[in-house]
Amino acid sequence: MDVIPCGPGFGAELRGTTLSDIASDEDTYTAVRAAFEEHSVLVLRDQDVSDDVQLAFSRRFGQPEVTKVGSQGTGTYFVVLSTIGPDGSAVPPDHRMALRAKANQLWHTDSSFKRLPALASVLSARIIPEHGGETEFVSTRLAFERLAPDMQQQLENSYAWHDYAHSRGQIAPDLASPEERAALPAQCWRLVWRNPANGRGALYIASHAYAVEGMEASAGKALIDELTAAATAPGSFYLHQWRIGDVVMWDNRATMHRGRPWPAPEPRLMVRTTISAAETDGLASMRPPFGQAAE
Ligand code: OGA
Ligand code: MN
Repeated sequence: MDVIPCGPGFGAELRGTTLSDIASDEDTYTAVRAAFEEHSVLVLRDQDVSDDVQLAFSRRFGQPEVTKVGSQGTGTYFVVLSTIGPDGSAVPPDHRMALRAKANQLWHTDSSFKRLPALASVLSARIIPEHGGETEFVSTRLAFERLAPDMQQQLENSYAWHDYAHSRGQIAPDLASPEERAALPAQCWRLVWRNPANGRGALYIASHAYAVEGMEASAGKALIDELTAAATAPGSFYLHQWRIGDVVMWDNRATMHRGRPWPAPEPRLMVRTTISAAETDGLASMRPPFGQAAE
C-alpha cells in the first residue's frame, strides 16, 4: 500500500489496497489506522463498494453509528444523502431533501450535536452529477496550530455548545423537525480535541456550534465564526472531485467538510457510514466539567 499526500498539509490517497483488504487484514488495518491519525482525510479510488463492504470496513475503526431520526436510513448503519425523489428524478430545490443537502454545504464536522460524537465518517459515491457536487475539507488541526499560543491555551480551556437545530435553522427555520429537536438536545464539548495517538490538538467547531460556555451569546458566536473563518482560509482546502468507486474517510475530530452545490436537476446519491468516538479516541477529555444540559 502507498500513502500519497494529496491536500495542503493533510489528506492522503491510499493506493494498492481495498476496503475488503483493510477490513480483513490486521497489518493493513494497522497501517491505514496510522495514516488516518496522521493525514485526517483518506481517499481510496476504484473501489468495488457495496453497503456490506463499506460497513465491514467502517467497523474496523469502531462502533458504527445508528442513523438518527429524520435522516434517510434512520435506524440503520447508513446515512443516505440523496436528492432523488420517489419518481426517480431530482426533487425541486425547496424540497426538504434539497434543503438538507444545502445544510450539508455549511462547514461542519459530523455528529458534534450527538451525545456520542463521531471519530470518523466514510462516504462513498453511488450516483454523481456531471458538474459540481464535490466535497471540500479543511484541517482544524492545522488551523489550531496556526493560532498564537495564548489563544491555543484559551481555547483548550473553553467549551462550545452544539445543536443540530442551529445548523438546520441557518437554511430554513423549521428544517429540524420537532422529532429531531426532541431526540437531539444541545451538547457541549471542549473547543480543542487532542488526538491521543500523536498529542496534536484540533479545533472542534462546526456549523452546529452556536455558543461558548461562559461567554455572552454574541461574543461566543463571533468567536466561533472567527475560528471557522480562520480554519477555512483560502488555500487551506482539499477539494475532492468524486468519481464512481471513490471512498473518502475523514477524522471528525480534526477536520471540517462541506458539500458543494451542483445543478438542481441532476441526481446525486452518496452513502455514509459514521464511526462513534471511543474514550480511547480522546473523547474522555472532551466532556465539560459542569456536565451537559439537563433534558
Ligand atoms: C456527509 C457530508 C457532503 C457531501 O456525508 O457528512 O457532509 O458532499 N457530505 O455529500
Ligand atoms: Mn457531513
